[in-house]
Amino acid sequence: DNPLKIVLVGGGSVGKSCLATQFLQGKFIEDYDPTIVASHQKVMEIESEQIHVEIIDTAGQEEYRSARDKYIKLGEGFILVFSIIARQSFVEAQLLHESIRRANNFNKAPVITVANKMDLENERIVSKEEGEELANKYSSQYYETSAKTGKNVDLCFETITKLLKEA
Ligand code: GTP
Ligand code: MG
Repeated sequence: DNPLKIVLVGGGSVGKSCLATQFLQGKFIEDYDPTIVASHQKVMEIESEQIHVEIIDTAGQEEYRSARDKYIKLGEGFILVFSIIARQSFVEAQLLHESIRRANNFNKAPVITVANKMDLENERIVSKEEGEELANKYSSQYYETSAKTGKNVDLCFETITKLLKEA
């Protein structure tokens, strides 16, 4: 059977690849290596059912972004990530919600909104209220995560898989 396609989208350096690595390998990568595109497969167990998922990690950096629209079309579920310490990434999150909505016009793909780097609370620029408001606007669940500590990371991947399974 075909894996369910979960696409990670968001601005550059928000932590998409680190979230994937934390989820898949339980470790945190300090170094920043901009992604072009990466894909990982995993079998998830949700309510004692085995679900095969493909996690597609896309590019946030401008120069690698050309392939992103293709994955937005192809995705069945989305983890839309911004960073609580980067205002621009929050602006991009809004644009991405719009792009996903447009690309998936006819089948409402589930999207969860993830505010990453919550361990950097003292550098926070985007408030929780703003994040929640954005998520609400697009009927999306909102989570704050840390790819560094692992906080809420598994929960996000499990939640999107559940939503996909129910879709
Ligand atoms: P692109 O592939 O360019 O789109 O970036 P990305 O969104 O995949 O970001 P990546 O996961 O590569 O992380 C970028 C930088 O942020 C790296 O130096 C990470 O170590 C750091 N980082 C990622 N997540 C967290 C987090 O939750 N907390 C902290 N403190 N740093 C993080
Ligand atoms: Mg990356």
